[in-house]
Amino acid sequence: MNVLTPGKPSLDSLQTDALVVGLTGSGDDLTVVSATPLPEPTVEFLKRAARSLRASSKVATVTRIAGPAGIEAATVVLVGLGDEEPTTTTLRRAAGAATRALAGHQSAVIALPHGGASDLAAIAQGALSGTYTFTAHKTKRDKDEDQPVDLDLSVISEVEDAPGIVARAEVLSRAVNWARDLVNTPPNVLYPQSFADEVERVVEGSSASIALRVLDDSELIEGGFGGIVGVGQGSARPPRIVAMEYAPEGAKSKIALVGKGITFDTGGVCIKPAGSMTTMKSDMGGAAAVAATVLAAAELELPVAVTSYLCLAENMPGSNAQRPGDVVTMRKGTTVEVINTDAEGRMVLADGMTLAVEDGAETIIDVATLTGAAMVALGPKIYAVMANDEALSEQILAAAKASDEPAWPMPLPEELRDGLKSEVADLTHMGERWGGALTAGLFLKEFATTTDGEPIPWAHLDIAGPAFNEAGPAGDLPKGGTGVAVASLVALLEAKGAEQ
Ligand code: BES
Ligand code: MN
Ligand code: ZN
Repeated sequence: MNVLTPGKPSLDSLQTDALVVGLTGSGDDLTVVSATPLPEPTVEFLKRAARSLRASSKVATVTRIAGPAGIEAATVVLVGLGDEEPTTTTLRRAAGAATRALAGHQSAVIALPHGGASDLAAIAQGALSGTYTFTAHKTKRDKDEDQPVDLDLSVISEVEDAPGIVARAEVLSRAVNWARDLVNTPPNVLYPQSFADEVERVVEGSSASIALRVLDDSELIEGGFGGIVGVGQGSARPPRIVAMEYAPEGAKSKIALVGKGITFDTGGVCIKPAGSMTTMKSDMGGAAAVAATVLAAAELELPVAVTSYLCLAENMPGSNAQRPGDVVTMRKGTTVEVINTDAEGRMVLADGMTLAVEDGAETIIDVATLTGAAMVALGPKIYAVMANDEALSEQILAAAKASDEPAWPMPLPEELRDGLKSEVADLTHMGERWGGALTAGLFLKEFATTTDGEPIPWAHLDIAGPAFNEAGPAGDLPKGGTGVAVASLVALLEAKGAEQ
């Protein structure tokens, strides 16, 4: 994405396929707004056209018209910015909706009005997000569905260090789009070993200095990773844990990100009904998010040490699948009675967290499409944050807010802990029905400790709702995999880097 300085050249003389400007107000007050002025007659024409086409200024509504006489751009894209002073969220959504509407175009200039650095970052990220497509498995492409590919994008801005802000947006968007690709990839193509291979391919092709470690099924069995081994044993495609370590010299805080990577969740022998299974290729969205986050952190050369642990398994009901009633010994040594094989995510995460503790993590954040209950509580767009450390929770919520990724805190109530008591083992992995997202969090909390039982600052992000967008594309968000949590986590790592 290029950065153009306002007025150089003037908007009317820009040689581009599409010029993106904003629309505010309504009725006779419908107003065209841009980063730098258009000639008055052009503005008058655009307003008249907008009125006659009944164009709406509702946020992220797009109206396209042929470029009028007097300007070089072939098409003008009017995108709604609403009636109020546009926020970063508004700008992000509008920029994304505008670029998504640019099928068949080769180039576009975004000329949306904006204030400071965060506005520009939102516009750049939104615009790049809107161009996302997943066409790897299409042999023919439907013209109407066509979305822009390789769109040559420019943005007009006079914000200080605009090129730096746009460069960060590009790194971040590439990472987010990788996470989306991973989520969207069909589950017959993406399974634990092929996920590990894909991580290796991307790391090798990147400027990032990331050390990879892959634990295969025999290493997991020998290492006593009973949680992930139990979940993976019903599948012909065995589990893996992939560790991606970025450790720049001199970095102080050592952060571990642990991702749930169930490449498909049938529920196991406690099998899900067909209707609940259709989106379960997305059950590795946490692993995708933490993989993409460490990639972005390394490419941005952030001054923090971060290792992502991808806990990869396929939850299938094969003849060797685990059963309700099985007792497994976790990597930590804790024995766990399996009650419902569909509560598999916490089992793989707990082993990943223990590995992180053994590697000396000072802060642990797990990211997981963990419970339907989190979705019942917060809907499909908001992720839940639970933590054993108030400051960490607040830092994550602040990073999420700054990234326009809605998140909300949820408690870890002590009284639900009793539900994890087992007659036959140290713990069960689930309790009573009510508060299912919270008991899942309470189970994970048991594994956020040192070997002496001292708590380690830990937070749990339940992204079951926003990881996969089942509704249509909206604003900058595509249908399908969203890459949620990557932007929040990168912002968090930047904040952690600035602390030192
Ligand atoms: N992967 C699911 C959670 C999920 C549900 C994610 C819907 C996204 C959309 C998870 O493994 C699961 O099955 N959880 C169970 C837990 C229950 C058996 C305690 C659930 O939420 O029903
Ligand atoms: Mn499940
Ligand atoms: Zn699951």
